[in-house]
Amino acid sequence: MPTSVHVNPLQRVSAAEANAWHRVVAASTAHDLPGVPVPDPGQIHAQLTRAPLGGHRLTWLATAADGVPVAVAGLRVFTSPGQEHLAELELHVDPAHRRLGTGSLLMSAVVAACRAENRRSLIATAAADGPGEAFGARWGFRRALTLDHLLLRLDETDRADLRQVADAEHPGYRLTGWTGTVPDGLAAAFATAKNAMNDMPVGDMDYGSVAWDADRVRDMAAVVADRGDTLLTVAAVHDDGTMAGYTEILIPRGVPSRVQQYDTAVVPAHRGHGLGLWVKAAMVRRLRAEHASVTEIETDNAEDNVHMLAVNHRLGFRSYRRTREFQLDVSAS
Ligand SMILES: CC(C)(COP(=O)(O)OP(=O)(O)OC[C@H]1O[C@@H](n2cnc3c(N)ncnc32)[C@H](O)[C@@H]1OP(=O)(O)O)[C@@H](O)C(=O)NCCC(=O)NCCS
Repeated sequence: MPTSVHVNPLQRVSAAEANAWHRVVAASTAHDLPGVPVPDPGQIHAQLTRAPLGGHRLTWLATAADGVPVAVAGLRVFTSPGQEHLAELELHVDPAHRRLGTGSLLMSAVVAACRAENRRSLIATAAADGPGEAFGARWGFRRALTLDHLLLRLDETDRADLRQVADAEHPGYRLTGWTGTVPDGLAAAFATAKNAMNDMPVGDMDYGSVAWDADRVRDMAAVVADRGDTLLTVAAVHDDGTMAGYTEILIPRGVPSRVQQYDTAVVPAHRGHGLGLWVKAAMVRRLRAEHASVTEIETDNAEDNVHMLAVNHRLGFRSYRRTREFQLDVSAS
């Protein structure tokens, strides 16, 4: 164990601590996931000082004897009914300080916290075939899911084709969209559609499932707005008022070039009508029209999510990296 490294649980994360966190994560990401954007210190401060949706967060900073930050760990503890067994790990060690036991020092603190929080499952994501996999194996994590990450470069999309797909008639359905919080008149229908995400393929993950209602969808939008990000939604509504499908994009605060796909879901009774492709094409068109700085959309799909992958390939998304989700049975470790 590295005797000269100190692990400090963070209480109220200061701007200086968020800066230290940023330095470690930026160095670690550049090493293992080159090209993947890292949130700036302000975004990290906003994330670490605000509670995540349906949970709370614990954080640790490891520093060398000279006070230099060398590693960070974050633990998201889920508290919504249906996920009270679950916690999610983020762990980074500066590449210059690896293989010295620092990651393990933080893991010991994380596992103790999981036990104190009465958790059964700890999940984590790492670059496929990277050091996180070997470290996870050493700690008894098992592979639960492989995610294919895809990018759509907006300047390479075929505009005429996109227009045709977005403008296609879908009798019985209309498109709608909003920024931030769902309009009141659509809130209940949106919450019902969100529950359709619960059958998304998640491999062997012991992820549990959350029941969405109008309050939870509003809370989610509030969490995103509170940290300064923008949530865009495009939805297909059936003539009977049912929300048949929707897609969400997260635009990080500032003037970002890359945005993140959140949910895309089509309610089971409305599948097979091309609605997933329709809402996603309409979203791409909307991004082009309303957010000129955006040049790329990143999404990730479970390797076996053939329908979503087919929609994404049809739109021009291309695979560019893979990550894996791992799970540790904390009670057994
Ligand atoms: C994974 C990570 C946190 C490990 O941090 P670390 O401080 O180097 O880990 P430790 O020194 O405590 O390693 C403990 C054991 O894990 C295994 N291990 C860690 N990195 C490894 C690697 N690159 N190759 C093979 N085994 C490795 C070894 O068994 C090691 O023991 P040893 O050095 O005595 O052989 C670090 O590489 C990292 O930040 N990676 C990028 C982010 C990431 O993947 N996070 C993990 C999410 S679970």
